[in-house]
Amino acid sequence: MERTFAIIKPDAVAAGQSGAILALIQKAGFRVVGMKQKRLSQIEAENFYGVHRERPFYGSLVKFMTEGPVVVLALEAEDAIRKWRDTMGATNPANAAEGTIRKMFATSIERNCVHGSDAPETAAVEIPFFFAAAELL
Ligand code: RTP
Ligand code: MG
Repeated sequence: MERTFAIIKPDAVAAGQSGAILALIQKAGFRVVGMKQKRLSQIEAENFYGVHRERPFYGSLVKFMTEGPVVVLALEAEDAIRKWRDTMGATNPANAAEGTIRKMFATSIERNCVHGSDAPETAAVEIPFFFAAAELL
């Protein structure tokens, strides 16, 4: 069993799509081991996406991720990291496959409704960034 970290981003929460996305997560076979709704602070968003600090879209991304509440999730499944990336679809919804969450709900390459860890080392940092061990059930 493997764990990955997911975010339902502010665009999807504001649009009332959290429940629909959670249903797709559960239908795909993930076990929800951690879940909470919160608003990211400027510092949290800057640090969370720090790997993109030098990219031209960084400022806009941090602004987007702090504009309203998000739902943070720790998900468990076999091959969870790859499986969640597949379930999300491509970063740009224009390239996302039919049936993926981003194809269904994303409106642009930035406002793309969900986040997922991209590697085991990333998941190992991102899960404890938002969850204490006792919150993972
Ligand atoms: P994420 O980290 O959120 O799961 O998304 P990802 O791996 O598919 O994409 P990544 O390259 O890590 O980019 C992180 C987030 O930055 C925004 N973005 N905007 N305007 C742009 O060209 C652009 N490119 C990326 C998206 O919100 C993307 O998910
Ligand atoms: Mg990424």
